[in-house]
Amino acid sequence: MSLTHHIPHLLGIEGMTEKDITPFLDLAESYALLSRSRNAPRDVLQGRTVINLFFEDSTRTRTSFELAAKRLGADVVNMTVATSSVNKGETLLDTASTLNAMHCDLLVVRHAQSGAPALLSQKVEASVVNAGDGMHEHPTQALLDGLTIRRHFGRLSGLKIAICGDIAHSRVARSDIHLLRAMGNDIHLAGPPTLLPGALGTLNGVTLHHNIDDALKDADVAMCLRVQRERMGSGLVPSAREYFSLFGLDRRRLALAKPGALVMHPGPMNRGVEIASAVADSPQSVISEQVEMGVAVRMAVLDRLSRMKNPA
Ligand code: NCD
Repeated sequence: MSLTHHIPHLLGIEGMTEKDITPFLDLAESYALLSRSRNAPRDVLQGRTVINLFFEDSTRTRTSFELAAKRLGADVVNMTVATSSVNKGETLLDTASTLNAMHCDLLVVRHAQSGAPALLSQKVEASVVNAGDGMHEHPTQALLDGLTIRRHFGRLSGLKIAICGDIAHSRVARSDIHLLRAMGNDIHLAGPPTLLPGALGTLNGVTLHHNIDDALKDADVAMCLRVQRERMGSGLVPSAREYFSLFGLDRRRLALAKPGALVMHPGPMNRGVEIASAVADSPQSVISEQVEMGVAVRMAVLDRLSRMKNPA
């Protein structure tokens, strides 16, 4: 979380403490219950404008933010790169002045370049939420992962959490590692050496493995990350089939984790590459609950940023 010119933003989890994180999770928990009972309060963001500015396509994340904003009564506009004038050579900063003129209150930004939401946050009068920037951060994903875990264990500390896959290119992994460390968990990362930055092993509470079985042993949570097909053929990852045999989460590997360990994946999944279908659809999988908590977490983030900006 950061404050520029007294405007609150959520640009990343890095630097946030347990005290910063917990209020988001608590509010999201109550929004999850209100959403289930179809009782979300529509007056929370009434009269506020939320713009979803997506320079990189992501139907699921955009839909999640859109639903979150609408459930709280905001006016929501989606701007995607295909329809924006960025294609006509407009710079990010020109976009910022356009947005200022439109009096947008909350700006949700996804961009292929790390740091783009931070740059925009210095130029717009809206609160900026990073919805995923390059290989940097995806803070609402970490919050929703944290909330999903907390709901199952009744706590978000002292757990052994295995994160497997393309750690190097993953903004989800980066945000999750920051959040899970801040909350005091034991994090085990596994992936091919080409996708596992050695520097992460120097962090307190983080252990690296090249053998996924070692990471999964007695884990409370087994989290898989998408392995992008672009990485195959680039020399970083062998074929999909070989990847699955070396790093795919199948039933045998899941059995190494604690009985009833949670299976998580941020989506979109490559079934049969990083995760077996049987595992993705097993009773241990909380993948759909992650999606549900995603909406609740985004409601909490939009609500809190808006309140911090306009104290009652
Ligand atoms: C994640 C992302 O885009 O960072 N997906 C998402 O938010 N829906 C994870 C991924 O793309 O693998």
